[in-house]
Amino acid sequence: MFRTAVRRFASTALKSAEAFAPPSARLIDIAQAQRISQNGLVDAIGNTPLIRMKHLSDETGCEILGKAEFQNPGGSVKDRAALYVVKDAEERGLLKPGGTVVEGTAGNTGIGLAHVCRSKGYKLVIYMPNTQAQGKIDLLRLLGAEVYPVPAVAFEDPENYNHQARRHAERLDNAVWTNQFDNIANRRAHIETTGPEIWTQTSGKIDAFTCASGTAGTIAGITRYLKTVSDGRVKCIVADPPGSVIHSYIQSGGKLGERKGGSITEGIGQGRITDNLKPDIGLLDDSVHIPDADSIAMVYRCLDEEGLYLGASSALNVAAAKKVAERMGPGHTVVTILCDGAYRYADRLFSRKWLEEKKLLDAIPSHLEKYIVLP
Ligand SMILES: Cc1ncc(COP(=O)(O)O)c(C=O)c1O
Repeated sequence: MFRTAVRRFASTALKSAEAFAPPSARLIDIAQAQRISQNGLVDAIGNTPLIRMKHLSDETGCEILGKAEFQNPGGSVKDRAALYVVKDAEERGLLKPGGTVVEGTAGNTGIGLAHVCRSKGYKLVIYMPNTQAQGKIDLLRLLGAEVYPVPAVAFEDPENYNHQARRHAERLDNAVWTNQFDNIANRRAHIETTGPEIWTQTSGKIDAFTCASGTAGTIAGITRYLKTVSDGRVKCIVADPPGSVIHSYIQSGGKLGERKGGSITEGIGQGRITDNLKPDIGLLDDSVHIPDADSIAMVYRCLDEEGLYLGASSALNVAAAKKVAERMGPGHTVVTILCDGAYRYADRLFSRKWLEEKKLLDAIPSHLEKYIVLP
């Protein structure tokens, strides 16, 4: 009796084991994504999932896929750029053990650099405009960075935080200013990692890619890779917030307008063509302008419909992917980037007072107002 029960149990176990063996494609996928990060934290950067946005896909008849960059160790897409600018400095002999990395940044690149520098034993010095929230300064300091908040002056002024960062590095031995905007190692991160990951994850079944531009490393690198691997077939479209010149530059066939106005989105929007964008701007097929009202509404939709707690630049990207899908028509696959989570922005994005101040309260659909949980 007992033996029969054991035999029955063993054969059930075997049957369920058979369901998972021999190693299926899924197990191989998991093995690759979840391998041991032999070099510590830096090996855990990248290889992020591609998430199907169910509601938006059903609504448009397209496959809308978001690359979950918020899953990187530092919480954003900028971990990739941070790793590549540091690796590039090492390879060029500019940074040796015990050296110092200096960067001008108020946001995710600083956080990415802080993680990468701690993991590799480098010091990190950050210059940022003193208009930035105390929370950002505190976070960088608790991640081990030396932070200098300096007066917020225009790029043309020698006291601008970027120039101060460059001069700080020049004063030290064994130090490098990583210069994320014009250092093309940033773009290379996306040519060598994000682009190939998207191509592999979709098995080449991708019709369009869209995302916004800050330094432009992400849009330029991924565009370069996808255009090359697909022989020009994949459409690449840059998404632009208010107060940025990239959309008008593309639509006017290359006229650089003046920067006017601003946006609630952070980390994106640009007043010039950075060195990261220059080599690839001619590859872009089109641009879309996304008003802040669309981005904020999408923050709430992604949360409610997909369970995705995203920052405003990610929401802008999703709104752009929806627009691109609608333009292309049903049956297409459109990929975008989910740059970071809403954690750092929650006190604004979910505050009634802040939404009122920005005149964005009306942009939130009434059935989603329940998410406005902060006064
Ligand atoms: C939240 C967020 N989204 C998007 C971007 C834009 O990425 P990229 O600099 O590669 O253009 C940044 C850049 O800092 C960012 O912080």
